[in-house]
Amino acid sequence: MAKGILLLHGPNLNLLGTRQPEVYGGMTLAEINSAVEQHLAAYDVQLRTAQSNHEGALIEFLHEARGWADGVVFNPGAYTHTSVALRDAITAIELPVIEVHLSNVHGREAFRHTSLLAGVCLGAIAGFGWHSYILAVDALLRHWDLLRD
Ligand code: DQA
Repeated sequence: MAKGILLLHGPNLNLLGTRQPEVYGGMTLAEINSAVEQHLAAYDVQLRTAQSNHEGALIEFLHEARGWADGVVFNPGAYTHTSVALRDAITAIELPVIEVHLSNVHGREAFRHTSLLAGVCLGAIAGFGWHSYILAVDALLRHWDLLRD
């Protein structure tokens, strides 16, 4: 039975490739999505991707995931540090969610050191650039006991 993964990207991540490449790397969002897709090619996984700059739209993607996905890899962008509503949505959907950041948020401004979401996620990965997403997907596969060497 195929597993479903929602790869969800929050605000400003549509600008990847040109947005502060010294912080976030040079890959576009489409390139990151396709790297994850390629990584998952060896697994029986259905991947869907989405991005929004709007908190409410991200909440709706999470709600919809309840109907088809088995897990979520989520870079909530700046909403990580502010959104009680996203925290409540993650709690409500009862799916394993991995919080992902390209940059090492703990080495940056103090306001980025707090995540309102990590505590209701299965775990969080930060600081490995686009590879953070691969590590997050592997964390889900391992959670399901599907990860191969
Ligand atoms: C980010 C880190 C956030 O603090 C920031 O607001 C982002 C990107 C990251 O991937 O490193 O938009 O989530």
